[in-house]
Amino acid sequence: MLTADHKKVKKLFSEFAKLQEEGGDEEKSSIVEQICNELKIHTELEEEIFYPAVRKAIDDSDLMDEALVEHAGAKDLIAQLEDASPNNDLYDAKVTVLGEQIDHHVKEEEGSMFPKAKKAKLDTEALGATMLKRKMALMEKMGMNAEDDDEAEKPARAATR
Ligand SMILES: [Fe+2]
Ligand SMILES: [Fe+2]
Repeated sequence: MLTADHKKVKKLFSEFAKLQEEGGDEEKSSIVEQICNELKIHTELEEEIFYPAVRKAIDDSDLMDEALVEHAGAKDLIAQLEDASPNNDLYDAKVTVLGEQIDHHVKEEEGSMFPKAKKAKLDTEALGATMLKRKMALMEKMGMNAEDDDEAEKPARAATR
């Protein structure tokens, strides 16, 4: 589920990059709003549920600390973007830099943290289920439609069958 989120956000960032060439402000702020919402939920899930479990399971507090600092950096740019509009100075640059930071962060997670967690035999199924539940609740709280979310939608549908 976490890697699916990563992919989704990466796609949104490349959509924004395309809009930089030829796109209106409205499209830009809609993409940026999606990026910010996705990232806020994703970092929340990781910090609340996934990271503490991984920290306990693996012996690498530096890796976990750095991930948290990277989240804090991202949250700072997200907050700035939420207060800004596309015609503000540095708007595009902030989105681009956020994308680069997230790209780096995702590489660390997928290349280092996730493999370590797997090796430590973390119960990823159980964690995934807990995170999905929390994700739905957070999406609802933020007024997002769970049906727009591929990952959230699949199990939700299965559950109603
Ligand atoms: Fe992540
Ligand atoms: Fe993360």
